[in-house]
Amino acid sequence: MDEILRGGIPYGSTVLVAGTCGSGKTTLGMEFLVRGATSGEACAHFTATEPSVKLLENIRQYSFFDMKMIDSGLINVFDMDVLYSWLGLEKASFDLQDVYALIKAIVDIVNTIGVTRLVIDSVTTLCYKIKSEQLIRDFLFTLGKKLATLGCTTLLIAEITSATENAHWSSFGVEEAIADGIIVMGDVERMGHLLRYLQVVKMRGTQHSRAKYAIELTPLGVMLTPMLKWGALNDRAGSWGA
Ligand SMILES: Nc1ncnc2c1ncn2[C@@H]1O[C@H](COP(=O)(O)OP(=O)(O)O)[C@@H](O)[C@H]1O
Ligand SMILES: [Mg+2]
Repeated sequence: MDEILRGGIPYGSTVLVAGTCGSGKTTLGMEFLVRGATSGEACAHFTATEPSVKLLENIRQYSFFDMKMIDSGLINVFDMDVLYSWLGLEKASFDLQDVYALIKAIVDIVNTIGVTRLVIDSVTTLCYKIKSEQLIRDFLFTLGKKLATLGCTTLLIAEITSATENAHWSSFGVEEAIADGIIVMGDVERMGHLLRYLQVVKMRGTQHSRAKYAIELTPLGVMLTPMLKWGALNDRAGSWGA
């Protein structure tokens, strides 16, 4: 990823990671935190798509992940449901006041722990509770701005049904406008196999590659290889697809 991004995600960016089901969003998000924690950064993961216990059960099977990072408090996993119940937000829809309470809670946690890498998995489930498009925009914009001020680099995971070029790279059509960066993860069928790919569509502040990369979820982490036949000729030569 650092190579694709010509150095990595600029500090303090809010990046939308939009992908289809099973494309590896959660794994990529967790590896992003693990790489930060390895160099001593405090990290947080807010999970809304699966309970934290289940998330950790799945992720601990990868050898890049070490439960010690959880035990030592370097990676902090929060269940969104628990956060909602702390805030008295166990309701189907959020109004402006609720949205601001939620932003405050997330920012307070980031501030208290000194989090510099954050993953919200996913903003789609969260935004379903916010009924107006304007309020979703406000929520993401205000949250992103506050996190950037705190020097926190954030991955907002979004679930999309299709990652094709004509599709929106967000579930609500507003997230993409607000994000500093957009990483798309999708599937492509090739010779009877459903292959995963990743593409950086936008990243403010860096002259990144916009080629498609094949993804393999390996025990060591997310492995990316240029998909030469998809026009990655300007990128590092790879063996995949040869
Ligand atoms: N230990 C593992 N090693 C390699 N791949 C795995 C492992 N566990 C799960 N997977 C793959 O990861 C996929 C789920 O990835 P995940 O990051 O949860 O996707 P998403 O969050 O985009 O839905 C599974 O469908 C499976 O193919
Ligand atoms: Mg997931």
